[in-house]
Amino acid sequence: MTTKKITAVCAPFTDAESLRRALRERNLLRNDFEILKDRKCIYFPVKDAPEELCSYNVVTKSFKLKAVKPQCYKDHLKLAKKLMEELPTSYDVVGAIILIKLSKALFPYRKEIGKTLLQTHKNVRTVCLIDPVSGELRTRNVTIIAGENQTLTTHTEFGLSFDVDVKTTYFSSRLASERKRVADLVKPGEIIVDMFTGVAPFSIMIARYAKPTVVYAIDKNKEAITLAKQNVKQNHVLDKIEIIHADANDVEKVIPKKADRVIMNLPFSAYRFFPLALSIAANICIVHYYDILKEEDIKVRINALKKIAAEQSFILSDVSIRKIKTYAPREFYIGIDITATKHADVA
Ligand SMILES: C[S@@+](CC[C@H](N)C(=O)[O-])C[C@H]1O[C@@H](n2cnc3c(N)ncnc32)[C@H](O)[C@@H]1O
Repeated sequence: MTTKKITAVCAPFTDAESLRRALRERNLLRNDFEILKDRKCIYFPVKDAPEELCSYNVVTKSFKLKAVKPQCYKDHLKLAKKLMEELPTSYDVVGAIILIKLSKALFPYRKEIGKTLLQTHKNVRTVCLIDPVSGELRTRNVTIIAGENQTLTTHTEFGLSFDVDVKTTYFSSRLASERKRVADLVKPGEIIVDMFTGVAPFSIMIARYAKPTVVYAIDKNKEAITLAKQNVKQNHVLDKIEIIHADANDVEKVIPKKADRVIMNLPFSAYRFFPLALSIAANICIVHYYDILKEEDIKVRINALKKIAAEQSFILSDVSIRKIKTYAPREFYIGIDITATKHADVA
């Protein structure tokens, strides 16, 4: 039996599933070594331990090599050494589609890389080269480099299925654990507003795993709204979610009730909409605010949010910040949970 000392991330049994999922979503889990357990913890062998996983224990430990080494697409490619080093170790899988970014140097080899990815992922039917998301609707340029000429797929997570068009709508498979985390915080009877719902993954996760009175799910993107309606139906939550095709700037007009919880997943711009979120907030409201920020800008952003809140007679408390994923070197996709409470004197 061959063993080797490698890097691992460990968690107590209660957190192991969340950690395993987080590692899978980031394609960090090593499949060539056996997972280890002791009386208290589970140890996952990893390719890398990025900063966003720093809340878990990172250790070096001896792991047993698995009998059969699973296929890694890199093992099937023969490129110059320098190019091999540039091949991405991580990429997103949305349903039956792989979304991958390639450096300029690798661009001429895109078809070969795509074909190899198809061969090594038996559930994948299409491989797309992607640009970063951009524009108001947070969509991206997508070029099919291998497989079927199809950008519509069905992604499953936590027993839910989401139809997603990777070209015309935003969707991140890496946010699955975050969506479940938020759903687990929802108390029975809450009124929820998902201000930038996309194909409605947060709303559906909440409707299925919690007992809200209603989730109002808004988006400006017509294609996203069509898929969101389809997703609500296929996940059997028609009675819990109201899909609204609107501009979040009009949120006060389109939401009939005050919200106990607001989800604001619109990094880079959520800040601009924060006053509107507070305008529909109940006297005590939890806001799940998402942004892309450098470490040093997080505090500044929170102070700015506090200032906006004060202008609308709200006090922000229980501010909790999480780094969800790395966006660029030293820049993070940040989730901030905030409790907004209306001043007693104006409530
Ligand atoms: C980052 S995506 C998040 C989608 C979804 N919440 C998710 O987690 O997959 C942001 C969404 O906000 C929508 N959006 C952008 N500006 C908007 C606006 N002014 N009003 C309503 N929706 C908007 C985009 O169309 C996009 O679907």
